[in-house]
Amino acid sequence: MNVNALDHGKSIRSATEEDFDRVMEIDRLSFSAPWIENFFKSALKDIFLVLEKEREIVGYVITCVCHDLEKAVILRIAVHPDHRGKGAAGILIRTCLDMLIQKDIGVVELDVELISRGAIRLYEKLGFKIANVIVFPSDFTGNGETFYVMRLVLPKSEEQAMS
Ligand SMILES: CC(C)(COP(=O)(O)OP(=O)(O)OC[C@H]1O[C@@H](n2cnc3c(N)ncnc32)[C@H](O)[C@@H]1OP(=O)(O)O)[C@@H](O)C(=O)NCCC(=O)NCCS
Repeated sequence: MNVNALDHGKSIRSATEEDFDRVMEIDRLSFSAPWIENFFKSALKDIFLVLEKEREIVGYVITCVCHDLEKAVILRIAVHPDHRGKGAAGILIRTCLDMLIQKDIGVVELDVELISRGAIRLYEKLGFKIANVIVFPSDFTGNGETFYVMRLVLPKSEEQAMS
C-alpha cells in the first residue's frame, strides 16, 4: 500500500475494506443519506483515499475517473466533525488532484448542494468554479434542492507538457 507521510503525524493512503467501519462512521456523521457498504466496496476501484492522524482515519475522499472523457468526478468527501477546520479536506483534495494530473486528466467536477456553504468555500479556495446550476423542483413536502456543478481545469503533467 502506498502511504504518503505528511507533517504533524498525518499520512494519506488508499483505502481498504478494513477501513470501512471508520469511514462509514464518518459518513453517517456527515451526510443525511449515508452510503451503504456496497457503495464503498465499489469505490475501491476508484481513487479512494483516507487521511490518518496518529493512525486514526479522520477523513476520506472518493473520486471516479472517466478515462474516455479525460474527466474525473469527486463523488464523496467527508471529515470527522472532531477534525474539521484544520485543513484535512484541503489535504485530501490536493492529493487527489496531484494523482489526477499524473494520470493526465484535464478536468475535475463535483456536485455540491447550494446550502453547503462551507463545502462551496472549500472548493472555491482550491480553484473550482461554478459551471452549472441544477434545480430539482419541490416535491409534495415542499423540499426542493439546488446544486452547483463545480469544475476545475487541471494543469498538464510535466511529462505531458514536455511532449
Ligand atoms: C466540507 C468538509 C469536507 C470540510 O472539511 P475540513 O477538513 O473542515 O475543511 P478544511 O479545514 O480543509 O477547509 C479548507 C477551506 O475550506 C473552507 N471551509 C471548509 N469548511 C468550511 C465551513 N464550514 N465554513 C466556511 N468555510 C469552510 C475554508 O475556506 C477553509 O480554509 P480556511 O480554514 O483556511 O479558511 C467537512 O466540513 C465535512 O465533512 N462536511 C460534511 C460532509 C460534506 O458536506 N461534504 C461535502 C459534500 S459536497
